[in-house]
Amino acid sequence: MTQPLDGRVAIVTGASAGIGAAVAKELAGCGASVVVNARRGDRIEEMAAALNRMLDAERVATAPGDAADNHTIGRMLSIARERFGEPDLVVVNAGRGLGGSVLTSDESQWEEVTRINFLGAARLIRAVGPKMAEDADAEKAAWDQAAADRVAGKAIDPKAVRARDIVVLGSTVGRHISPFSSLYGSTKFAVNALAEAARRELGPRGVRVTLIEPAIVVSEFQGVAGYDPENFGELMKKFGPVLLPEDIAQAITHAVSLPAWVHMNDIVLRGTRQEYP
Ligand SMILES: NC(=O)c1ccc[n+]([C@@H]2O[C@H](COP(=O)([O-])OP(=O)(O)OC[C@H]3O[C@@H](n4cnc5c(N)ncnc54)[C@H](OP(=O)(O)O)[C@@H]3O)[C@@H](O)[C@H]2O)c1
Repeated sequence: MTQPLDGRVAIVTGASAGIGAAVAKELAGCGASVVVNARRGDRIEEMAAALNRMLDAERVATAPGDAADNHTIGRMLSIARERFGEPDLVVVNAGRGLGGSVLTSDESQWEEVTRINFLGAARLIRAVGPKMAEDADAEKAAWDQAAADRVAGKAIDPKAVRARDIVVLGSTVGRHISPFSSLYGSTKFAVNALAEAARRELGPRGVRVTLIEPAIVVSEFQGVAGYDPENFGELMKKFGPVLLPEDIAQAITHAVSLPAWVHMNDIVLRGTRQEYP
């Protein structure tokens, strides 16, 4: 049976837990080949083995390491190329939170939070964007034909132009800075800007850069950020049911499965009862 992502080659960073793990499973389940990254190599090895068994195909490979490091980024790309082909769907997901405000958060963690959330995202976009754009440039005639067909009122063959995607995990707190986690929110504010900047540069050449802005999603995120479990439990009751990583994964799969000329470029996802942030 044809799957919406058959033939696509994906990279997902931060895939050992939470949103990244759910996205990797969802993309593989929809037909993509996937290179998964995270620092906990044993976790992604186990996940890849389990998915390959389930799919009855070797479609998930691992590239362990720090996603903010250019050497690891290079390995993600070379493993994807060797195993599956040129990556055309990159999910820039690895990241972490930090509880507290600019005045109260643990300053000793600022560098790590900024490095993985912002620099890691920028480095990965820069590593994959130019080749994706070059490949799309080579298909410019097909894009121009599709545009002309639309002007002429003719149907466009969905296979006439290929989709290429960079999906970036921002956050609602990157849009509405919350004093609850404002240093983290500031890094995501920068990530939101980075995704929009990359969209403006790559979109005209046929590459979709999609910003995903989730609100509260239950994952390892809250523990890593150092949120107080009692306060967080109260928030979950007030705003709940809060989102699960699978909710984000489904939204991403939907966005990247749209025809190549349709771009759902900014997706905000909240539990229905969460009014802010
Ligand atoms: N959960 C939320 O409420 C929420 C809301 C909005 C946005 N987000 C964003 O969504 C993304 C995923 O968060 P999540 O909720 O899935 O958190 P999570 O459950 O803590 O997962 C984070 C993932 O990132 C990986 N990671 C962290 N630092 C890394 C590094 N330097 N190199 C490679 N991988 C790294 C972790 O794996 P290792 O530790 O094995 O490296 C883990 O797989 C993050 O960018 C986060 O900011 C989350």
